[in-house]
Amino acid sequence: MLSLIFLSLLGSAFSGPVDFQYANVTDYQHYRLNDDVTPSFYDVRLFFDPNSASGFNGDVSMRLIVNNNTSRILLHAMAMQIQSVQLFADGSQTNLATNYTLSTDETHFLEIVSSVNLTVGSLYVLNIAYVGTYATNMFGVYISTYQYMGQTQNLIASQLQPTFARRAFPCFDEPRFKAIFRTTIYAPAQYPTVRSNMPIRATPLKPEVQGYVKHEFEDTPIMSSYLLAYLVSNFTYVSNEGQQNASYRIPFRIYSRPGTEDTAQFALDFGQRNMVALETYTNITYDLPKFDKAAIPDFAAGAMENWGLVLYRYVKFWNVF
Ligand SMILES: *[C@@H]1O[C@H](CO)[C@@H](O)[C@H](O)[C@H]1NC(C)=O
Ligand SMILES: *[C@@H]1O[C@H](CO)[C@@H](O)[C@H](O)[C@H]1NC(C)=O
Ligand SMILES: *[C@@H]1O[C@H](CO)[C@@H](O)[C@H](O)[C@H]1NC(C)=O
Ligand SMILES: *[C@@H]1O[C@H](CO)[C@@H](O)[C@H](O)[C@H]1NC(C)=O
Ligand SMILES: *[C@@H]1O[C@H](CO)[C@@H](O)[C@H](O)[C@H]1NC(C)=O
Ligand SMILES: *[C@@H]1O[C@H](CO)[C@@H](O)[C@H](O)[C@H]1NC(C)=O
Ligand SMILES: *[C@@H]1O[C@H](CO)[C@@H](O)[C@H](O)[C@H]1NC(C)=O
Ligand SMILES: *[C@@H]1O[C@H](CO)[C@@H](O)[C@H](O)[C@H]1NC(C)=O
Repeated sequence: MLSLIFLSLLGSAFSGPVDFQYANVTDYQHYRLNDDVTPSFYDVRLFFDPNSASGFNGDVSMRLIVNNNTSRILLHAMAMQIQSVQLFADGSQTNLATNYTLSTDETHFLEIVSSVNLTVGSLYVLNIAYVGTYATNMFGVYISTYQYMGQTQNLIASQLQPTFARRAFPCFDEPRFKAIFRTTIYAPAQYPTVRSNMPIRATPLKPEVQGYVKHEFEDTPIMSSYLLAYLVSNFTYVSNEGQQNASYRIPFRIYSRPGTEDTAQFALDFGQRNMVALETYTNITYDLPKFDKAAIPDFAAGAMENWGLVLYRYVKFWNVF
């Protein structure tokens, strides 16, 4: 996060989950997951309605690899109600999950128990349906507001670093458990601007759901959960599309609330220059097919480097660029 430094300068307004106490490292082992079962692929559906603060529905289907003899799968889930858990050996229709426990302590462990020992080297599919809650401290998925023409407008944004992907969907929420993430967001039609790390998928896979517009995104590269990001809004954008060249080759968009397009144009220009400068400096080319930045009215950090969808605190965005 650009700005743990800002946070310490800004003090109490941003204390809370980010205010870590790394006093005794030996105490942290019991927060860690094991390597017995590890994820390779997640297929996540999220039903996000900025007008409905009560919570959101979601489901995830993950592919798991078994590395060790075990009948217990340990992963993370936080601030959600689990509705169903199903575990299948690849290709089988037999649900192996017998029970599960979602801890209420700070480990956020979700433990799933299988009726049989899982076979080392085999593939399993774990399906979980749940009802999530929007965060009220801006860590996790949350509802943010801004004023537009005298009216309060809502939007949904996310801040999943360091440990809040587990609030969006059950997952192995440590950076080392890298996997491919497929995301589908269902949102009401009044909020047409729905973005995530990857571009919209050209060939849709998921069913339509009554009352929602479906936004399906391409699969991510193999990555850590904390870098995922979501935006559901009626923001507008400015873009370099149609004006790309050899150095400004990535489709680049700046999303912000309606009426701020002039300033967004400035951010677009400098955003691209920064990207090219960093590519030259690091000798590493930007590897995703698109680059979005969005200015969020309430945002806990100064900015968050989510791959493909960088989110800024509104005031920082306009100050910095
Ligand atoms: C750190 O935690 C360990 C294990 O709980 C404990 O034995 C030890 O006294 C703690 N050290 C300090 C400096 O608090
Ligand atoms: C397998 O599980 C056992 C018992 O929990 C543990 O001692 C061992 O380290 C694990 N092996 C691997 C490769 O994770
Ligand atoms: C799992 O258990 C089987 C039989 O109990 C054993 O042959 C095998 O070595 C074990 N695998 C691991 C990774 O511990
Ligand atoms: C699962 O069920 C078994 C048998 O009822 C019980 O012993 C065990 O504690 C349960 N485990 C969890 C994680 O709920
Ligand atoms: C799973 O394997 C362990 C050790 O290999 C064994 O003690 C246990 O009984 C097995 N559990 C089941 C449900 O087969
Ligand atoms: C979306 O933005 C428009 C202005 O572009 C505004 O009139 C409208 O009320 C907004 N709707 C919602 C649901 O935020
Ligand atoms: C690409 O376009 C930008 C913006 O118009 C310009 O500053 C830059 O020099 C161009 N680069 C190349 C290699 O044409
Ligand atoms: C930059 O990366 C390329 C390709 O990996 C490599 O061939 C080249 O030597 C690197 N240049 C520098 C200055 O490190």
